[in-house]
Amino acid sequence: MTIQAGDLRIDYSKQLIDEIAIARLLDLASARKATSAFARMANGEPINFTEGRAVGHMALRTPRGEKFLIDGVDVVPAVWLVLDQMANLARAIRIGEFVGSTGRKIRNVVNIGIGGSDLGPAMVYEALRGSRSPDITCRFVSNVDPADLEANLAGLDPAETLFIVASKTFTTVETLANARAAREWLAKQLGESAVEKHFVALSTNTQAVREFGIDTKNMFEFWDWVGGRFSVPSAIGLSVMIAVGPEVFFEFLGGMHSMDTHAAQAKGRANAPLMLALINIWNTAALQTSSRAIIPYSFDLRRFPAYLQQLIMESNGKSVRSDGTRVPYATSPVIWGEPGTNGQHAFMQLLHQGTNVVPIDFIGFARSSATDEARNELLFTNLLAQSRALAFGRSIDELPDSSARPHRVFEGNRPSTTIVAPELSAGVLGQLIALYEHSTFFEGVIWDINSFDQWGVELGKELALSIGLTLADFSTNDHPELDSSTHTLLSWFTEHRQNNNQ
Ligand code: F6P
Repeated sequence: MTIQAGDLRIDYSKQLIDEIAIARLLDLASARKATSAFARMANGEPINFTEGRAVGHMALRTPRGEKFLIDGVDVVPAVWLVLDQMANLARAIRIGEFVGSTGRKIRNVVNIGIGGSDLGPAMVYEALRGSRSPDITCRFVSNVDPADLEANLAGLDPAETLFIVASKTFTTVETLANARAAREWLAKQLGESAVEKHFVALSTNTQAVREFGIDTKNMFEFWDWVGGRFSVPSAIGLSVMIAVGPEVFFEFLGGMHSMDTHAAQAKGRANAPLMLALINIWNTAALQTSSRAIIPYSFDLRRFPAYLQQLIMESNGKSVRSDGTRVPYATSPVIWGEPGTNGQHAFMQLLHQGTNVVPIDFIGFARSSATDEARNELLFTNLLAQSRALAFGRSIDELPDSSARPHRVFEGNRPSTTIVAPELSAGVLGQLIALYEHSTFFEGVIWDINSFDQWGVELGKELALSIGLTLADFSTNDHPELDSSTHTLLSWFTEHRQNNNQ
């Protein structure tokens, strides 16, 4: 029950699964034609059937010279045109050839974006700490809470700062509001003419970028066949490329591509993303678990659980099948997690002895990304201790006689998968991300849901807009359109906001 996929070794022998279940799950995958569904994605067919779009994130890491067809057109040359454009800027910033409006070297990069336009680059930037230039710091602003921008601008010299406005649609309210505020901050100190030298945009929407006031020669393009949560290998990775340099970024893309090839070619139980998907389906269907923890034993991977929350939950948090009927089974569990060993001193108690069974993905490395390797053994042995304690527990007979005896019992049989690699290199990180992308894909195929739309975020956006309009003239109107809870909370807000403003 171990798979070697590239540099990743995936041990699922501590899952509550046996040979009969594995055989049945593989039958299920064949019945759902999982392999040909993957081929349809790789052939650029419009598998995002609610939006009539191809799903082309694998094109973003297809090597130069190979083909990836979308609507019959090879998109690889266009992909590399943008990657080269990004590499030119990244190199120019790193060697001090591209400078700010006053001639000063760029030392700070502020990425303004949310969801896939934030979580991917923010996670990868942290994960590749060991490869980053010491001269350039990236910060990531996502929240429309003004505290986020304020905290991240603190201490920055505008003359040394480049803002990257990252938004696939360039209509996202939070990102545009933060970008406007950042622009004001910069223009106030360096003048309006400085904006051109200090703002670039990453988007699919040329017109909206122009309307915002960013010259489209400072725009890095991507395409509507790239889902936000799959966009880190696209122009959305620009901040990372500036920090680690184009060569390391290309290694990262190479790692993703090698997992794409594995997912397309490995058969049955040798296919790592397929097995990860089947185990998750088993856990939700047979064990009826409703959450799944991702626990990297790696400080540098601390943003990985948050990244996977969007990847998995925005993809597979669905309940309607391709024929429009409601699913009669559970789909994605809640994804959550924190790095080990910190989690051991916080939530692991519940995972060992609580009434909920929570399957876990442990992730660990043989070598530390830190220059001082000293405590990496301690880190890795703790990972092994946790998965072992969860699986095998401790029976009452092993405990000394005392009134606390029943409280000290560990039932065991708590499932986990352990994913290990020699070290967290750029290539390994690429493989890890693509592993989860493709396991999310296979889950969606087997559950017969569309993993590539996100209608579930729309209602909240609409209501925020209409509540905003209501708030604008709240005191003079009755607002019978509001439910009583929302009405009362809005009254409370206006009252307290006024007090604060006085
Ligand atoms: O609202 C959800 C979402 O569309 C995500 O799927 C996406 O990653 C995020 O918002 C940001 O969107 P954009 O890149 O268009 O600003």
